[in-house]
Amino acid sequence: MEKPFKRRDLLGIRDLSAAEIVGILDTAENFREINSREIKKVPTLRGKTIINLFFENSTRTRTSFEIAVKRLSADALNISVSTSSLTKGETLIDTALNLDAMAPDCIVVRHSSAGVPHQLAKVSKAAIVNAGDGANEHPTQALLDAMTIREHKGKIKGLEVAIIGDIVHSRVARSNIHLLTKLGANVRVAGPATLVPADFQYIVDDGLVVKPRIEEAIEGADVVMILRIQRERQDAAYFPTLGEYSIHYGLTNERLDLARQDAIVLHPGPMNRGIEIASDVADSSRSLILDQVKYGVAVRMAVLYLATGGTMTSA
Ligand code: CP
Repeated sequence: MEKPFKRRDLLGIRDLSAAEIVGILDTAENFREINSREIKKVPTLRGKTIINLFFENSTRTRTSFEIAVKRLSADALNISVSTSSLTKGETLIDTALNLDAMAPDCIVVRHSSAGVPHQLAKVSKAAIVNAGDGANEHPTQALLDAMTIREHKGKIKGLEVAIIGDIVHSRVARSNIHLLTKLGANVRVAGPATLVPADFQYIVDDGLVVKPRIEEAIEGADVVMILRIQRERQDAAYFPTLGEYSIHYGLTNERLDLARQDAIVLHPGPMNRGIEIASDVADSSRSLILDQVKYGVAVRMAVLYLATGGTMTSA
């Protein structure tokens, strides 16, 4: 069954209904098989032009969008901000208007400031896809995390999900909290009190609790999601040293033993081995970190397809 995707832009999970989230995930399921073919290319977006506009470093997201564009046969333009006219004083909006004048169908944007994709969406005729804006949202990351969870747990509703680390600076945490609670999971967050304020639980109406100790968050969890310390977004010393952070908040096998026996471990990357996650946990069979990256391509294929006029399909 096909349903229209009534939005042009994908700016955040906060804006989406549960039905839209499931529709995107089901559409991604239908694209997944293309990525294991010998010839990994379909003509779905032939004639469409996608601009990747990344103002911040990225390995996974940028590569994943580029691969998704190529596998769908669209034309990709990758704008390097360091060689663009932004370095000559042009404003972000003027840059966007000039790119838009060349009639791309979609602009994928990552920026260190929250709200930049929303600003571009107001002036652009092309669809805008948020590839991460400051500490606000990273919608495609949450969608690929959900695809990984669905694949391994068969559902999201009713799961207990622990998110551990630098919650306050994390766009991944925000997008995941919106997505998981909309789909009926219970989310517990924990980390240093300076990085997980007690009133954080009110960013959603229901389904989120702040736990004072990471052991309490991990206990009985079905999914343990570990986040990196976002030092590029911190303007103060939130904990004494990385060594102490690792001792008190790092995911070790001993701490993971508190979770359910079949619990899975996720990390959005980039991962700091030996700080937020021990190497033996990251490399264990419970860790699905590379599956997350794998499913990211199918999710980005689905998002580009929907943003350029495609319809949501059932899995
Ligand atoms: N998960 C993620 O956004 O990684 P990159 O910063 O490498 O894109």
